[in-house]
Amino acid sequence: MSFKAFRVEKEEGVFSRSIVDREVEDLPAGELLIDVQFSSLNYKDGMSATGNPGVTRKFPHTPGIDAAGIVLESETPDFTVGDEVIVIGFDLGMSTAGGFAQRIRVPSGWAVKMPQGLDTHTSMILGTAGFTAAACIDKLISTGMTSQSGPVLVTGATGGVGSVAVKLLSHLGFEVAAVTGKPDKADFLKELGASEILSREDANQGTSKLMLAERWGGVVDTVGGEMLFNAVKSLRYGCSLAACGLVGGVEFPATVIPFLLRNVNLLGIDSVQLPIEQKQRIWQKLGGEWRVDLSNLEESLTLDTLSQAIDRIMAGAMVGRGVLHLR
Ligand SMILES: NC(=O)c1ccc[n+]([C@@H]2O[C@H](COP(=O)([O-])OP(=O)(O)OC[C@H]3O[C@@H](n4cnc5c(N)ncnc54)[C@H](OP(=O)(O)O)[C@@H]3O)[C@@H](O)[C@H]2O)c1
Repeated sequence: MSFKAFRVEKEEGVFSRSIVDREVEDLPAGELLIDVQFSSLNYKDGMSATGNPGVTRKFPHTPGIDAAGIVLESETPDFTVGDEVIVIGFDLGMSTAGGFAQRIRVPSGWAVKMPQGLDTHTSMILGTAGFTAAACIDKLISTGMTSQSGPVLVTGATGGVGSVAVKLLSHLGFEVAAVTGKPDKADFLKELGASEILSREDANQGTSKLMLAERWGGVVDTVGGEMLFNAVKSLRYGCSLAACGLVGGVEFPATVIPFLLRNVNLLGIDSVQLPIEQKQRIWQKLGGEWRVDLSNLEESLTLDTLSQAIDRIMAGAMVGRGVLHLR
């Protein structure tokens, strides 16, 4: 059986992208064959499609770290033909052919049954980016963040993780401050629930100082680099920053001072290897008490418009969530 797939090829160090017909028989081994209805575009997919060796080393390759669809074949009693499932993270779209295709075959341990309150479409408006925003907020709350802690800062706010974080935090009753490099998107961020908009320059002020005035009751950081540690220096006493991204750089200049004087915490967030039970718990939350209408975040993509969107996400120019329609 053949299906359509987005494919990245590498020839003599040069990468090219195309849409190809593939055969189901050529997919890797796994207990579940899935009819992918929706996928979504994440920054990591851009890294894979542009040959970042930290994400994908072998080409030709089909990226796509996210997929939601219907089980067509199951070799395990845990899933039945017709089940709606979500697959994010693990090796999907890295070395394993990913969700930018109408079919994937994966180990059953990578799949979560669709929680009540979500469907294949809404789960992919969230995708890995939305899931990661929720994982950050979940960890911040479990380490003591409440709406009384102070405003919560979100960096890279118009991006996938950032925009869902702004919306979710505001839904949960937090006051939200958003950092963006797109001043023309201030109204968009206010509509999502941000009450204060900061420029990247604002967020990077005071980089040379050991400490900054106490401002934030929590931080969701998607940027890394100098912005991350500047935000740590502005945390209120005992509060935490959840670090999930690297769009601004993988290194940050740091001292131990804020940890010693302000009792603050730096929390790591990984959505890839997070055990499936924990993934399931967060997806259930997103379909339940954390369910929000994200339809105004969606930019609909098709296999034909995907390549251009990949260029935009790598340039930091994407706003909200690119959702790939595969039906
Ligand atoms: N740890 C995990 O499991 C996990 C999961 C998902 C994503 N991530 C990471 O989280 C980050 C965001 O992912 P995403 O999918 O949300 O990407 P995205 O949609 O491209 O959003 C990133 C946003 O960051 C801002 N930005 C871009 N370049 C910047 C720069 N040089 N300095 C400061 N801000 C910059 C832009 O927003 P503004 O213009 O509004 O500033 C951009 O829209 C990526 O690094 C990704 O790898 C990690």
